Amino acid sequence: MIVVLDFGSQYSRLIARRIREQNVYCEILPNTASWSQIQKLQPNGVVLSGGPASVYEPGAPRCSREVLTGQIPVLGICYGLQLIALEHGGKVAAATRREYGMAELKIDEPTKFFAEMPDRFHVWMSHGDRIEQLPNGFRALAHTENSPHAVIAAGEARLGIQFHPEVAHTPLGGRLLRNFAVDICGSNPDWTPGHFVSEAIGHIRTQVGKERILCALSGGVDSMVAAALLARAVGEQLVCIFVDTGLLRKEEAHNLLEVFERLLPGQVVSVDAADRFLERLDGVADPEEKRQIIGHEFVQVFAEQAKRIGSMRFLAQGTLYPDVIESTSHDTHGAAKIKTHHNVGGLPAELDFELVEPLRYLFKDEVRKVGLELGLPREVICRQPFPGPGLAVRILGPVSRDRLEILRCADAIVEDEIRRAGLYERLWQSFAVLTPLQTVGVMGDGRTYNNLVAIRAVESQDAMTADWARLPDDVLSRISNRIVNEVAAVNRVVYDITSKPPATIEWE
Ligand code: XMP
Repeated sequence: MIVVLDFGSQYSRLIARRIREQNVYCEILPNTASWSQIQKLQPNGVVLSGGPASVYEPGAPRCSREVLTGQIPVLGICYGLQLIALEHGGKVAAATRREYGMAELKIDEPTKFFAEMPDRFHVWMSHGDRIEQLPNGFRALAHTENSPHAVIAAGEARLGIQFHPEVAHTPLGGRLLRNFAVDICGSNPDWTPGHFVSEAIGHIRTQVGKERILCALSGGVDSMVAAALLARAVGEQLVCIFVDTGLLRKEEAHNLLEVFERLLPGQVVSVDAADRFLERLDGVADPEEKRQIIGHEFVQVFAEQAKRIGSMRFLAQGTLYPDVIESTSHDTHGAAKIKTHHNVGGLPAELDFELVEPLRYLFKDEVRKVGLELGLPREVICRQPFPGPGLAVRILGPVSRDRLEILRCADAIVEDEIRRAGLYERLWQSFAVLTPLQTVGVMGDGRTYNNLVAIRAVESQDAMTADWARLPDDVLSRISNRIVNEVAAVNRVVYDITSKPPATIEWE
């Protein structure tokens, strides 16, 4: 495996994902990780990420010296390159102008790092500092117009690069990372969904033995893939609880139960708790209050069912790698709270269980691949993200059975038309929102005074930022026509053309 040391770069996760795309397992550690923490993972090599600091700033992040001077292969990217240079007596200085954007890299010395690469190719630069004087024992392997030392190396296995191989703007970056991880570090490129499944099954069996495991199914992809994996590993020792909040999309609960029944026959306890959720949400308009009520009620229902089932030692959770990194990295502290993203289906903290987290080291796209590997249907596995509190945060103002029904019908039309247009998997999310506004309309010869529905469709990589989707006119037109014709309580449809920031993706 490969370790990525994170120096606070927005791209660290991307580096890890790109390396994993080369079928080499990779984990991110903070730059402060000690040498013994790094060694514990037995990495074949270490990648030093970029970062916002300048190596000469007081308090600039450093890493364990053994990484920089030891035997293990190292690849420093941008800030990582400068750290290597500084450690070995090179000189780093502010470039006369910040280099940002595409550049052409020309190879001066073909080495293993450039195996099967053309002599020159495009790379993405984003740096303010650059190497002015090569560090001792290093030579330049490639240059760009503005960076004479764009790739430097000591021997074959200590490398520094000024550009970012992890971003899509460096089209051959994946190949470079593969050359480093496989050819230089000697990693075995066998990290595939199939390999993950067989390893995970082994780990689960060792952890759980003959004990029973409880798993909360929320309807989301993560809990479903976790359950499918556990079912493979421990069969009938697994019991799942599906809490139907009544806040899911049209036909969703029914379709999920069908999938569960096929996948985990006789192992799913399904609870129709819609009435309870609606009662608790009655008259509540504040979005944060809605989230709290739903999160709390979910835990209540789950705990009651768990009690009925009897004693269990383990609880499965669909925790993913980004949650694990967030709890150890530096980039989330002090961030303003915009929304509490309660994950319905999350751990009821007051319950006394040991945790089983089989997806703890996976990114979302890897979870999907594992889900497909386990034979789960693509329509379910490749569904767009859906918030835990469900349609409750897409109905502005109080939630009621009638308003849920209106939104469900409008939302199903949006999904249907977006799928027909072949756009569903290209969009991050696309859905309908029911506003608390009534507007005047005319139908036949009569006046109407009815609900306003908004359509939201966004493109995004990670939901941190998003751009509103430029949907084709004819798709928008079909969505609008169908909603006003097929959903009796709606007489006007608008399209949200705001990006994130300043808006958020969900309206509440
Ligand atoms: P926003 O609206 O903050 O959403 O731009 C970013 C992403 O998070 C989802 N989202 C939630 N997910 N519980 C969740 O599990 C929530 O309360 C919640 N609120 C927003 C949203 O759908 C988008 O993908």
